[in-house]
Amino acid sequence: MQPREHWSTRLSFVMAAVGSAVGLGNLWRFPATCAANGGGAFLLPYFIALASVGIPLLILEFSLGHRMQHAAPAAIERIRPTFSWVGWWAVLMGFIIVSFYTVVMAWCLEYVVYSFFPEALELWRTDAAGFFEDKVLTIDKELQGGAGEMVWPLVGCLAICWGIIFLLIFKGVKQVGKVVLVTVPLPIVLVVVLFIRGITLPNALEGLQTYLQPDFELLKEPSVWLAAYGQIFFTLSLGFGVMVAYASYLDRETDITNNAFLTGLINCGFSFFTGFAVFSVLGFLATIPGNEKALEQAGGGLAFIAYPTALARLPGAHVFSVLFFITLLTLGIDSAFSIVEAITASLMEKFNLSRYLAL
Ligand code: ALA
Repeated sequence: MQPREHWSTRLSFVMAAVGSAVGLGNLWRFPATCAANGGGAFLLPYFIALASVGIPLLILEFSLGHRMQHAAPAAIERIRPTFSWVGWWAVLMGFIIVSFYTVVMAWCLEYVVYSFFPEALELWRTDAAGFFEDKVLTIDKELQGGAGEMVWPLVGCLAICWGIIFLLIFKGVKQVGKVVLVTVPLPIVLVVVLFIRGITLPNALEGLQTYLQPDFELLKEPSVWLAAYGQIFFTLSLGFGVMVAYASYLDRETDITNNAFLTGLINCGFSFFTGFAVFSVLGFLATIPGNEKALEQAGGGLAFIAYPTALARLPGAHVFSVLFFITLLTLGIDSAFSIVEAITASLMEKFNLSRYLAL
């Protein structure tokens, strides 16, 4: 058995945990969920969920990994062998999530490439939904079940995303500690750029009003509370085995509670901030004829339909499109590799494999 690896510094660990938490969910999921579930009023259940479940579970997962110095399945096995399946269940959840997460990253990569083509931007301007369905996903509307054709450009982008994940983590956590020094601050800086561009656009305030106008009546709906708790689990990467695996590489001397507070607060504060960048741009979009309903319809199609329509109308559209999709990619990459790390560490420990083989 190899000696256990360790983070070079406590900062590397906190940055890696923040990198795992801050992901597509912050920009793609939080603002739309917030607007659809009571706007500013949603912040109340959201921060209650953070305080009542998010931070306590972060402390629990960090403590488990730190104390046992193993990833989730082996850590739980050391407490009670019959319950190791709970750890494997978390690993399975991580596997399912990373399987679709990397596909969304592949869409982002394809959009980065399309951002350089004036014809693509012209299509985003006029029919971004059609572009997404016909050019990117190439949905076969005639298809009745079955798998359909391979979409080779997407397969290529997906392979590149997986290749990058492999390259970033195959040398172990010391390397991850260095990578996150770039992949964590970079998207934050890019979101600040998008925020400045967003709030200086016409009708930005209208957008922010949709984002934050509180509807306290909605707090009576259980679905709003469910959305808040669900978002907290997803955004803090809880229950995927990630935080247990990352904490298992911590030195004995560390401050678990402080690490958990830092991770939870930075992540949720950043989510709140991204809403300003997203909804100011949607406010602008609503001024464009044919897009008057952009603010009401902000949802799943936000990143690949509504946002590109608005980006394509901006002066310097190419630059802002590249910026936006690189932001999404860099947001996603450290979350994706944290999940892969949790799976890899679990397999390495179970089958006594080298990191290379487990990957
Ligand atoms: N925590 C990651 C995200 O929010 C999975 O995207």
